[in-house]
Formats: sequence, C-alpha cells, structure tokens
Amino acid sequence: MKEAKVTIDRDFSIAETDPRLFGAFVEHLGRCVYGGIYEPGHSTADERGFRRDVLELVRELAPTIIRYPGGNFVSGYNWEDGVGPVENRPRRLDLAWMSTEPNTFGTNEFMDWCRVAGVEPMMAVNLGTRGPDDARRLLEYCNFPSGTELSDLRRSHGWEKPHNVRFWCLGNEMDGPWQMETKTAWEYGRIAAEAAKLMKWIDPTIELAACGSSSRNMPTFGSWEDTVLDHSFDHVEYISLHTYLNNYADDTPAFLASPDLMDSFIEEVVAIADAVAARKRSPKRIMLSFDEWNVWYRTRRKNEGRVKLGWPVAPTILEEIYNMQDALAFGGACISLLNHADRIKSACLAQLVNAIAPIMTETGGPAWRQSIFYPFKDMSNLGRGTVLQTKVNSPTYETTYYDPRGTSELRFPLPAVPYLKLSVVHNHDEDCVTIFALNRSLDESLSIEALVRGFEGLAVKEAHQLRNDDLMAINTKDAPDTIKPSSLEGVEIWGEQVRAKLAPATWNVIRLEVQKQ
Ligand code: AHR
Repeated sequence: MKEAKVTIDRDFSIAETDPRLFGAFVEHLGRCVYGGIYEPGHSTADERGFRRDVLELVRELAPTIIRYPGGNFVSGYNWEDGVGPVENRPRRLDLAWMSTEPNTFGTNEFMDWCRVAGVEPMMAVNLGTRGPDDARRLLEYCNFPSGTELSDLRRSHGWEKPHNVRFWCLGNEMDGPWQMETKTAWEYGRIAAEAAKLMKWIDPTIELAACGSSSRNMPTFGSWEDTVLDHSFDHVEYISLHTYLNNYADDTPAFLASPDLMDSFIEEVVAIADAVAARKRSPKRIMLSFDEWNVWYRTRRKNEGRVKLGWPVAPTILEEIYNMQDALAFGGACISLLNHADRIKSACLAQLVNAIAPIMTETGGPAWRQSIFYPFKDMSNLGRGTVLQTKVNSPTYETTYYDPRGTSELRFPLPAVPYLKLSVVHNHDEDCVTIFALNRSLDESLSIEALVRGFEGLAVKEAHQLRNDDLMAINTKDAPDTIKPSSLEGVEIWGEQVRAKLAPATWNVIRLEVQKQ
C-alpha cells in the first residue's frame, strides 16, 4: 500500500469558490438542444417542450451558469433567426457542425429554460461572421428594459421584462482555423475591444470574457493572450481557456496525470494576464473563465461533426460514452479548477446533454447519468466555500502525456506525478470541511493521513467513492447504474488527524463536520 501525508490549515486559504466555477454549456450541436434539453412531444416535456426528466438530472448535477449558444456554432449564428414567432423562423445551414438549424429554440426559450432550471445564463456573441454591431443589438434586445426598437421587439415577442444577462463571451475560439471567420490575435483583439466598448455603453454592469487560445497546444498560445489582452485589457474582466483531456494513446497513467497540465495552463495564462497588467502599470487583475473543459477524444479525432451527413437536424454527433477512467481524469480536472479558485471565477463543463455530456438521453426515451456526472455533482454541490491550501507529500510516478491538438503532435513529459491529487474546501455556513481526493494508482491502495489544523472536534459526516475495478465500465440506457458512488468505509479521526484508505483508481469525497464546542 502506498502512503501519502497532507497538511491543511484553516488559516491558509486559496480563495472562496465563485458560484460560477460550477457552470456548464449548451450549444446548438448534435442533440444537445433538440432531443436533449428540448423535445416537444416527449412524454416528460412541459408546455414549452422542456424535458422534465433532463431538468431533474440537471438540478441534481447542480450547474450554476450555462453558456449558450456556442461554441463553434455561435461564429455563424444570426440571433434574430431564433426569436419571434416560431413559424416565421428560418431553417439555416450550420457550417460549424454541418447540420440544419431549425431555429425552433432560441434566445428567449433558453432564458426560460434557465429560469426553470435555476441557473444563470451566459451568452456568447458572434464575432466570426458578424461583429460588434450585432453584439450590441443582441445585448439591447436582451437587457434593455423598453422604449427602443430592439427592447420593444423582445416585449412584442412575449418577454416583457429584460433578461438581464450579466456574463457575456466575446466570440468563441477565434484563433481556430475550424472557426467561421477565424481572426489573427491583432484582428480579434481590436474587434473584441470595440464590441466590449459598445456593449458596456449600453449596459455597464455586464461582465465580459475575451477569447484566449482555443487550447494550450495552439502554436499561437501565449502570444495570442498577450496581444488580445493588450487591446482589450481595459474593457474585459476575463480571458477564456479551453481544455479537453484525451486518452488517444491508451495510456491510463498518462491520462490520469493530464489534469496536472491544466494546472500549468492556468498558471501560464495567469502569468501572461499579469504581465500585460504590469506592462500597463495596472493593478487590475484579469480573471479566468475556463469556459470549456471536459474529457473528449473518441468522437473527436474522426472529426465526425464535420463529415457531411446530408445536413441533418440534430445529428447524433459527439456522443462520447464515458467510462470509469474518464470519470477519474475528469475528477482530476475538478480538483485543478478548485485549487485555482483565486483566479478561475467561472468555468463551464462542455457540454450538458448528449454532446460530450454528463447526461445522456434517448430521443423519445429515457435520460441517464454518465460516469462523469458524479465528480461534477460532488464538486458543484460540495465545493462551495473556501478552498484551503494543501501541502501534499505523496509518492509519484513518471509518465508522458500525448496531445495531438493543434498543428503538431505534442508529448508532455511529466517526471513526478503525485498519486494523490487533492483539494479541500471549508464551507463556513455548514461548518463542514470536504476533501476531494483522487488515487491515481491503478493497482495499489493509498493510505492518507491528513493533518487538519485549526478545526476542533472533527467528525465524519459522510464519505463516498466512485469505483469500478473495470476501468472500461460504462453506464447505458439499460444499465444506468453500473458506475455510481458507494460509501467509503473506514475513515478515522484522531484529534486533528484524518486517516483514510483510498482504493486503487478511485475518486473519493470525505465530508467532515466541525462540531461546535
Ligand atoms: O464543445 C465542442 C466544441 O469544442 C465547441 O463548439 C468549440 O468551442 C470547441 O472546439
């Protein structure tokens, strides 16, 4: 058995988690909207066509903010197509996913869905085929109360009150050649700054995220962020990051180590943003919006979204089936996000339903949870509070992660990956300390001894693990509970010491209550 020691101190904190850290993403992509959140005629659909079975799972998953309508889709989207009487809305070719967009679901339906789901909307504007003028028009339509053409248009469509969308993304992955009307950093930086200026003149209370590189592997990563922020620094609050972890190499130890590269990515983007601030002699700190993250590889390399299938409506594309080891890598990513709560103020699991998603549905049939559902549910429900610094002393292993994104096939040597990846959150309101812990050893249990300083009278409130000795196990419509949490036995408290034994290849959550004296 391997052994690890952890030291935590109540007074040494990283930051309070922003509620927006627990977001997700709904794009007009495959069956995410149509047949996912929206399916009129489905046996569980409400009068607006929202699937209640999906809503129930969304509430259990507990995302806080949902990004919409893309993704790649937004770079060719005319928002006007999706508002007004449904019978007048055009069907259009969507070049992002080679699909036909029926436009029966649009901005207002999304706002209603968010209200029913109890989440905040996050909107992206099209800075691909369109630009600042359309961005400000959409903002006026959404947020201006009344008395102008566009606000009155919204009212005439049946939405009397403004939607008051607070968080806006200035385009999507504008450095990617797969994007409609890709831009250079200089072009995009200028456009983003001008769009931001116009939008804030209409509603100074909004918060804006500029696009960072679409991945750490883009050849322009680094210089892109620097140039974009050089132009837009005074106008935006956030820079975005995107990461999809992969196991193309079929190398589980490397895959489970890959969240550590997310840590590096986050720290690099923080360094670049702060370097721009230093150059501008500014005390302002640009925060990070990790607005796309997940595991994604099986349905990616084939580029199946772009294969011409005859322009179908809501094709079954990007329907990644997640197994046990995906849930472990995913859990590692959750820990990376929590441990950077000082700079990541918003993050979106990409995506929510069917397309690379924690929730799967059958059109006309049931909905079920994929393996990755559970670490997200844990993080979102139990990760509210102050993230504490942790000193981890764990045995390590050596590996090399392979990531073919971008123009070249990159290999990242990781000489010392700790078997234990861990985050600790103190929830003041509930007087509870939650330990999220990943054992990355595939064949050995990991005994952990955590010294939790400054909390008196600790007691175990609840502890569970996500474990399946078959790392290829999956949940399906017919066997939806093959992977589900089970209780973690044997957690012991000795004064300030918490001892637990983590089984090989497991995601673990230990909740400690702080008993009042
Ligand atoms: O989430 C799927 C796609 O991945 C998004 O549309 C795009 O932004 C990213 O490349």
